[in-house]
Amino acid sequence: MATFSSKITTIERHTLQQQQFRAGARGVLTQLLNDVATAAKIINREVRRAGLTDILGDEGSVNATGDEVKKLDVYADKAIYRVMDHTGRVCVMASEEVEDIISIPEEFASEDAPYVLMFDPLDGSSNIDANASIGTIFSIHRRVSTGKHGTKEDCLQAGHKQVAAGYVIYGSSTVMVYTTGHGVHGFTLDPTLGEFLLSAEDMRIPTAGSIYSVNERDTHSWTPELQEYVAWLKQEDPASRRPRTGRYIGSMIADVHRTLIKGGIFMYPGTVKKPSGKLRLLYEVAPLAWVVEQAGGKAILADGSSVLAVQPTELHQRTPVFMGSPADVDECAAFLTGSH
Ligand code: AHG
Ligand code: MN
Ligand code: MN
Repeated sequence: MATFSSKITTIERHTLQQQQFRAGARGVLTQLLNDVATAAKIINREVRRAGLTDILGDEGSVNATGDEVKKLDVYADKAIYRVMDHTGRVCVMASEEVEDIISIPEEFASEDAPYVLMFDPLDGSSNIDANASIGTIFSIHRRVSTGKHGTKEDCLQAGHKQVAAGYVIYGSSTVMVYTTGHGVHGFTLDPTLGEFLLSAEDMRIPTAGSIYSVNERDTHSWTPELQEYVAWLKQEDPASRRPRTGRYIGSMIADVHRTLIKGGIFMYPGTVKKPSGKLRLLYEVAPLAWVVEQAGGKAILADGSSVLAVQPTELHQRTPVFMGSPADVDECAAFLTGSH
């Protein structure tokens, strides 16, 4: 459970306070996180107006990984770019909606820009028309290249090297959750103030939960081990909190946010046809895995190893993932690795 305080703290103040944990910090990451919050407010405004304007519906094209693009995906992608490209804080960006790396325009590019920003501008966008929760996911790394322009190598870094990550969920309220490696903190947007206010400091995922979240459409193309695990979750045994309850929104951001708050396990496994599953390592899985781990949870691959250790080789690389409460992920790992 998160702890609550009577003090009113804006996200700007909080990110500034967190700077104390980074020796020699110059405030650039702090400002970058505040830029993310600004972009989130712009996206939030459009998401909230979506039902009122003609913005709902398909844009009529497919993105880099073949998904149908919604108009709000495009809007969110551009909003982040417009906030970020001229700040001198990021040397390169990458987005789920863009095939190649996103370079910084020549006039703003600098060898001194220290960070790399990757994002899923709008996750769960197939749920927009149904008014279900959607969100923005972001991942920040320190750059490794030295020239004026950042490179693909800056983007292809393992999740454990992230310096900040988080998400914004546009749900019944709009909440931004972030970590810089010193706990996970949640802020609720006060729409009348236009400010993200600290609402959940040092969020901790429950040690064990009673919810499992997976698309069971794929049951018959899962490995026998995974089929056995999910069948076990449904058996009656109150002593081990079974049967567990199934919840699957189909919006990773909403399913993972619920997992963080209520506990349990979220899975997007590989199948025979798609061994890497669907979710993208750099824009979705690595940032959310780090948030979950920072909150005391776990995020693993089918062999039980940490998702955050995976060295990416492709920008749009997909990966299976099993993440959530430590006890639930351990149970899952025991089945998947045949050691239960
Ligand atoms: P996006 O909207 O960014 O393309 O992501 C959609 C993803 C993710 O949010 C969700 O967990 C998953 O797609 C659902 O996929 P299935 O319909 O295959 O379950
Ligand atoms: Mn997504
Ligand atoms: Mn998306």
